[in-house]
Amino acid sequence: FEVSWDAAAADKGGWPSFMAKEVSEEPEAVAKTVLGRVKDGGIVIPELDGLDELFQGIDRVIVLACGTAYYAGLVGKYAIEQWARIPVDVELAHEFRYRDPIVGSTTLVVSISQSGETMDTLMAVKEAARLGAKTLSICNTQGATIPRESDAIVYTHAGPEVAVASTKAFVAQITALYLLALHVGRVRGALAPSVAEESIDELEALPAKIQWVLDNEQERIEQLSHWMGDTRSVLFLGRHVGYPIALEGALKLKELSYIHAEGFAAGELKHGPIALIEPGQPVFVMVPSPRGSATLHAKVVSNIEEIRARGARVIAVAEEGDAAVLPFADEVLRVPLASPLFEPLIAVVPLHIFAMGLATAKGLDVDQPRNLAKSVTVE
Ligand code: G6P
Repeated sequence: FEVSWDAAAADKGGWPSFMAKEVSEEPEAVAKTVLGRVKDGGIVIPELDGLDELFQGIDRVIVLACGTAYYAGLVGKYAIEQWARIPVDVELAHEFRYRDPIVGSTTLVVSISQSGETMDTLMAVKEAARLGAKTLSICNTQGATIPRESDAIVYTHAGPEVAVASTKAFVAQITALYLLALHVGRVRGALAPSVAEESIDELEALPAKIQWVLDNEQERIEQLSHWMGDTRSVLFLGRHVGYPIALEGALKLKELSYIHAEGFAAGELKHGPIALIEPGQPVFVMVPSPRGSATLHAKVVSNIEEIRARGARVIAVAEEGDAAVLPFADEVLRVPLASPLFEPLIAVVPLHIFAMGLATAKGLDVDQPRNLAKSVTVE
């Protein structure tokens, strides 16, 4: 009788991979990032105490990051602009650093990094500080270099992330950006109390909604990814906050399954990408809620009709009860209802599961994709 013991497997807590474990922890990553930061119906971020004057004095925000964290930044732009009414640019850190950027003392540079050690991001933050900008770091690793180099820090509390492809840290980064946006919006007097209240309710409801996707759709998405094991290319379309999620879905698929994947803004379809559509081409479409914006919803449904007419195989990610997509979609992956800004945190989960499922179907190592490192500490 022999007891086999594998320390790495033990750390996976019974899951087949770190990534599977980390996807299962997405609800908790959001919950822990919110935990202790909602008090008496308002956002309280003790790390930002004493910085009200800084937030009142800025006239611009630049978000800097790389990889998945950059897509979290693209989502955050919508929330910061809507709630805090400050113009936001989101830029890849390595592009920012080498283009002689125009920043000054009224610019707040927000960096996002899971590891806090990404060299490209670190060097961009240092350059921003040299040019006189205020710097704030959103980071998942206590005491890492980027937060140490920044004027202020908001930690994400996703817990250690081991799989190279970032999942739970991504939802935690968006959560932290939303907390920051709500905080800065209040400090600047830009945020109506009723909006703050609704948004806090939405934030607190998120973990259960993400869990709903894991409980109700994971198996079906895994089946779908297994059927699609021979696929050579997958496209992702999204609009508004669904656009960065389309980019994230494509990145995850490239990283894990080594197949061609590209994300597009749905409105851009007619300006080029529609030429790629041929019979059988799988296209994921992030469908915005019809309750959030009937116009955006109608436009995306019409994009679905256009690609379907050209033979695309449409996989729609749509909220429960949205029947408008049914006649045109080959598959509908359901997500629970949420107000528009909160949809990305839920709708990204099916894409994470899909990328992991397809890589698994191809027999690939989802935790350690070829050529990639968890933290890139060289330029
Ligand atoms: C690497 C990883 C990506 C990650 C990026 C940024 O390229 O493979 O998964 O998104 O770095 O990492 P950071 O630690 O700065 O969030």
